[in-house]
Amino acid sequence: MGKDIVQIFDTTLRDGEQVPGCKLDADQKLVIAERLDDLGVDIIEAGFPISSPGDFTSVEAISKLVKNATVCGLTRAVKKDIEVAAEALKFAKKPRIHTGIGTSDSHIKFKFNSNREAIIERAVNAVKYAKTFVEDVEFYAEDAGRTDNEYLAKVCEAVIKAGATVLNIPDTTGYCLPEEYGAKMKYLIENVKGIDKAILSCHCHNDLGLATANSIAGVMNGARQIECTINGIGERAGNTSLEEVVMIMRQHPDLNLDTNINSKLLYDTSQMVSRKMGMVVQPNKAIVGANAFAHSSGIHQDGVIKNRETYEIMDPEDVGVNESSIVLTARSGRAALAYRAKLVGYELTKRQLDEVYEEFLKFADVHKAISDEDIPQIIEACNLGIES
Ligand code: KIV
Ligand code: ZN
Repeated sequence: MGKDIVQIFDTTLRDGEQVPGCKLDADQKLVIAERLDDLGVDIIEAGFPISSPGDFTSVEAISKLVKNATVCGLTRAVKKDIEVAAEALKFAKKPRIHTGIGTSDSHIKFKFNSNREAIIERAVNAVKYAKTFVEDVEFYAEDAGRTDNEYLAKVCEAVIKAGATVLNIPDTTGYCLPEEYGAKMKYLIENVKGIDKAILSCHCHNDLGLATANSIAGVMNGARQIECTINGIGERAGNTSLEEVVMIMRQHPDLNLDTNINSKLLYDTSQMVSRKMGMVVQPNKAIVGANAFAHSSGIHQDGVIKNRETYEIMDPEDVGVNESSIVLTARSGRAALAYRAKLVGYELTKRQLDEVYEEFLKFADVHKAISDEDIPQIIEACNLGIES
């Protein structure tokens, strides 16, 4: 039986672009949108057209440019927002309007000074109005993570009736635990009438470092879209990271889920977004960090040199990284030193290796990381007459 495809909805250019200090210009957004399309993203959330004239123009330009993906624009449940988004999306081959409203008690009380019934009415009116412009309407129940499931189910039922085809269940504040978020999806699938006419979408924030785990719990419980960003950038602690959820599904065939992403472009796309946004990728970032395939402790290095699978669960080439690296530090063992020395042209006998290793440790304690250029210097300092 074929795997179920989980749609990848990329919001790097909307939720990701909201990051302080990370304003992309219009040309940079176009280059990123084109790359996301090549990457195989199913939906590109290009922006929030009413928010500024610049965002409107970018969404319009991305709509003209993108060949394969659906192009989506965000709105509040406000008529003018929806009209402006529809206008910005009018050149898109596959346009989607993403409209919605807060549904948690705190949003209803403090943001809208309203009540549950009135919020459902606004949600339904927004979806119906968006439907007059485009066929593909996604509804978000903002702060769904802290919305009680019974009320959330009522909201979902009402917006499906009004024509929404995708229901976004955002954990806006990054509060949920994976079990809780997964159970929410399960509850909606079991209790919302008409749910077979729509797909559920995970939109998780990373305030407690759980965005990826929550999104995976969501799809394990029936959701079929994940909203995410390259490098996990986004509001506060960020959004679910695209590269993480894609590779989790690839590396776990038991989940029977996959995506349309060309994973070999992940590393390069991560680097491109990092450069354009001026946001460094933390070295220990899963999948795309500089150390994601670098082995530095002696025990691990020895294992990887014997067989990569001892300490690697992924082939680096599958995410576009040429090869894993053996990094020489004072924690490295003889196997790693011999391996790297051989790569730069020195075949050391066991006795030579013992002597060079002593010299190497002294050097490594001072210099921390040792490059290929340092190796001849260390070997020559031993006066063993070894030549490369
Ligand atoms: O986090 C959130 O709730 C959002 C919505 C606007 C979709 O980004
Ligand atoms: Zn968000």
